Order: sequence, then C-alpha cells, then structure tokens
Amino acid sequence: MRGMTNTPPKTGLARNTANYGDRDFALYLRRSFAKSMGYSQTMLDKPVVGIVDTGSDYNNCHRTVPELIEAVKRGVLAAGGLPMAFPTVSLCEPSLFPTSMHYRNLAAIDTEAMLTAQPMDAAVLVGGCDKTVPAQLMAAASADIPAVQLVTGPMLATPFQGERLSACTDCRRYWAMYRAGTVSGERIAQIEGRLATTAGTCGVMGTASTMACIAEALGMIPLGHGSIPAVHADRLRAAEEAGALAVRLITNPIKPSQIITAKSVENALRVLLALGGSTNALIHLTAIAGRIGVKIDLERLNMLSDTTPVIVDLKPTGEGYMEDFHSAGGMPALLWELRDLLHLDCIDVTGTTLGERLSEPQFVDRRYIRARAEPVSPVGGIVSLFGSLAPRGAILKRSAATPSLFEKEARAMVFDGLEDLANRIDDPDMDVTADDILVLKNAGSLTPAGMPEAGYLPIPRKLALAGVKDMVRMSDCRMSGTAFGTIVLHITPEAAAGGPLALVETGDIIRLSIKNRSLDLLVDEAVLATRRAAWVPPEKPKRGWDRIIHEQVLQADEGCDLALMRQGG
Ligand code: FES
Repeated sequence: MRGMTNTPPKTGLARNTANYGDRDFALYLRRSFAKSMGYSQTMLDKPVVGIVDTGSDYNNCHRTVPELIEAVKRGVLAAGGLPMAFPTVSLCEPSLFPTSMHYRNLAAIDTEAMLTAQPMDAAVLVGGCDKTVPAQLMAAASADIPAVQLVTGPMLATPFQGERLSACTDCRRYWAMYRAGTVSGERIAQIEGRLATTAGTCGVMGTASTMACIAEALGMIPLGHGSIPAVHADRLRAAEEAGALAVRLITNPIKPSQIITAKSVENALRVLLALGGSTNALIHLTAIAGRIGVKIDLERLNMLSDTTPVIVDLKPTGEGYMEDFHSAGGMPALLWELRDLLHLDCIDVTGTTLGERLSEPQFVDRRYIRARAEPVSPVGGIVSLFGSLAPRGAILKRSAATPSLFEKEARAMVFDGLEDLANRIDDPDMDVTADDILVLKNAGSLTPAGMPEAGYLPIPRKLALAGVKDMVRMSDCRMSGTAFGTIVLHITPEAAAGGPLALVETGDIIRLSIKNRSLDLLVDEAVLATRRAAWVPPEKPKRGWDRIIHEQVLQADEGCDLALMRQGG
C-alpha cells in the first residue's frame, strides 16, 4: 500500500511526522485524520504549501485575508500542490495592549514553530499590519523553508472636502490641530469616520508599507507586488501568483537564507533610506538580519544615509499616498533609480537576480518617485546618533524633522514614564518652553509599556495653543512610521536597562548635533556616578510573556529580538 514502506519520502504530508515511536504508523494516522477532512489520496500525495492565516476580527488591516487565502489556494492547486492554511497570532496596531511590538516576537515564535512543526514543503506568509510581516520574515529566516511573503496591501485614501485623507499621518495631523484648538470636537468626530475607509494597511509610507517595500527589496516578495492596493483585483492575482510560486519553490528550492543575505539587507537599508521610510523598519530589519547572523551596523547606516537620497515623495515626509507610489511605478521604479547603489546579484523568490529583474528601464511618475538628481532630500531619511546619552546609538528621522532644530543645546524636561507624561504634559503650570528638550524615559522594550510608539511626545498643550509645531523630543521608545517631528528614538541602552537615559533629570543640558551625529548629556561624571548609585532597576514582571520578554528581549540595536531566538541563541 502507498506510503506503508519503512522509508517514506520526507515530503508533503510525510514531513515531520508526530512522535509515536513508529513513523509509518504516524503517517498512517495523519493520512487517516486528513481524510476525515475530505481529501482524496491524490491530493494527499501532492507537495504541501502551508499558508499562514493572520485574519482576525481584531485586525482591520487583514480584513481581506480570507479572499487572499482563497486566491493563494487557487494558485497552489493550479500548480499541482496541496494548499493548507493555518492560523497564527494576528497583530493589529490599535487593537493591542500595551503595544503590538510587545507581541511581535510572540508572533515570530508562533509562526516559526508552525512552519517547522507541521508538514509543508513551502509556505506563503500572509501578513500586512506593521508587526506581522517582520514577525513572518523573522520566522521564515529561522525556519529556512522556501517561503513567499504576501501582504494585504495598502488602503486607498478617501477624498474629503477638497483633500484626501488616509491613516495615519492625517489622523495625527488632525489630532494635533484638535489639541491646538484649531479643529472643533464636531469636526474631529466627523474625520474619525473618513481616515480609513477601505480594507488594507495604513495608506502612507508608515511601518506596514515600509516593511512591504523592504520585503520586496530583500527579495521575499516578487517585484512589483508589495504596493498593490488591498482592494485592487491585482492584489488577488498577486496572491494567486504567490501560491504558484511557492509550488515552484518546492521543485527548485530557494531558501530564505539564500535570499536574505548581508547584501540584500544592505539593499533593503538603501530602500528604507530612499523611501524616507519608517524608523520602526530599522528595528525590524535588524531583527530579521539577526536571524541569519547579519548585524546592522549603525555607523554603516550613516554612511549609507549620506549617499542615498530620499526620492519618494509620500506622507508622512512628503505629499502622496501609497496608491500614488504604486501607480507611479512602485518598487520596480524605485529600485531602477537606485540601481547603481544596489547589489544586483541578489536573488529573489523567483530565482532571478536583481540585475535581471532590472534589465529594462521602468515606468516612473516623477510626481512621487523623483530622479536622483532632483531628490526630495539629497541624503537619506534616517541618521544614527552616538554619544554619552546613547552609547549604543539612537536614531532620528531627519526627513520628518525640522532642520532649524538639528543643532540644539538645551534644558531637558524629563518625564519618568508614560503615566508621568500623561499626567503632566498638559499642565498649564509646567515650566516648559519651546526651546526645551522633552525627554521620556522608561518606555523601552524591557518595560511593561512594551516600547510603544510614544516617541512622538505631544507638544505641551499650552505651547501647542501658542502655535508651536515642533520641539526636540527624545526617548527610548519608538515612533509611528506615520508620525513626524524632530524626534530622537531608540536611545540605547534604554533607561530600564540602566543606560545613561535613566540618569537624566529635568534641568540637565543635552546637546543634539545632527551634523556630528551626536547626542550628549552635559552633566559632570561625579554627579552621574551619584545618580547611578541611587538608580533602582525596574521590578521583574511575575510571570508569562511579560516575564519572558523582560528576561530575553534585546535592545534596539539588536532588533529587540529575543536573545534565544537569534541565530546561535
Ligand atoms: Fe495596520 Fe496601520 S494599523 S497598518
């Protein structure tokens, strides 16, 4: 009888048989149970493509996942495979407490475990919202089975009273105006229903779209597929193609470790910089690269940043929305513009080199993807900073910052954590001016706050009402990819790890110099030594995931991955 030999082929359903002490019996049992789902023997003999299903009623960005999975299945079946969808943790930015970042590593563990424990020859990873794609790429890099990334795609912007609106730069823009008293409560309530009106991920070059572009630059998404809007029919065709491609990867195996390499990671960094993309993407790319033993050096990032212009004109740093980027030529056009800066020998999931994929000039609409000679900014969007306040680095998105604040030596106004920030930021009696530097500490990855996107500290209400639009703000947490301002992020080591940030007090002088790439705390070492001796580390969470995070999570310069999940543990 078929499959009853002592040496079953370790493909398809015969992979990873459960441990009953008798592999033939385990496979027999597996087939028997699979038949209870109505599969024929013909289907069960086919190579298996696992499809990661992150659909969830809590995840608006993944609303289209069910139809995408149907399309992936079509592609798999037509190419001769057996599609098997399975659920994993689904993460949606606004739906999770304390933050989705707190659970990115949980999703990565879950996905890796299911990719390796269940029988499959290749996988299609269906994600979209900010943390799902990083988690899936981290998992795929570690599991190292052939995999194709499929994203849900961005939402469309909504025409509204003479302008267009989309999540979430416009959410922040209008909320800031509401705080400043220039938008009424009635109008802000009306706009609430206009910011996200179609399925899909946020419609600007926020973290989700930046990660889709990065996945495409790495080679894990076929060229041109990352930015297709969620509601376009092409998105379903891309899903069908992802399924067919996964089947092709079974007969011509290309593993993530052949695609995600030091060179393709550097290509992805160039793309991140040229996009003026999300600062979060740097943490995620660092974590993905860490899974294959590649370290992203922040000094190298500065070199890349100084030689990579921002050429994509999208919100939050520019004007357009993701649908404009896609119709302007998307990643093929962007990569074409950057081609002499890229490693062209990197292969992607189709097995072709980047050079082969860019063998011909690509269509480009210059309104949204500029020529290198006429960039949005002649240098890259992100810089890293080092100094006595950030010995292992910090970053600033200069493309979203105010140049007049780039060189600043000023008094610190310190908030000890999120609660302190919430309690005092709008206090009309707070001694703060637009010249001060707002500092938030104890909001890094080690804290129960879960490294939130709180780096976009609100302008104190009394200053906002007086018309202040930007101030220097700094913290050990993150900023939404859709936010903007002169904001130093990811100060490493974070305060909860006992970094110098923990020692900063209101009234201290901080010097920020973008020109020198430096961030320094101008306080005598003797004073700091006294403060250091009095510093008390935060309490350990008692149990569960919070405890695992507290004991295992690495700092931002290592992608905030869990120590035991990186290559080599
Ligand atoms: Fe999911 Fe913005 S909330 S992409």
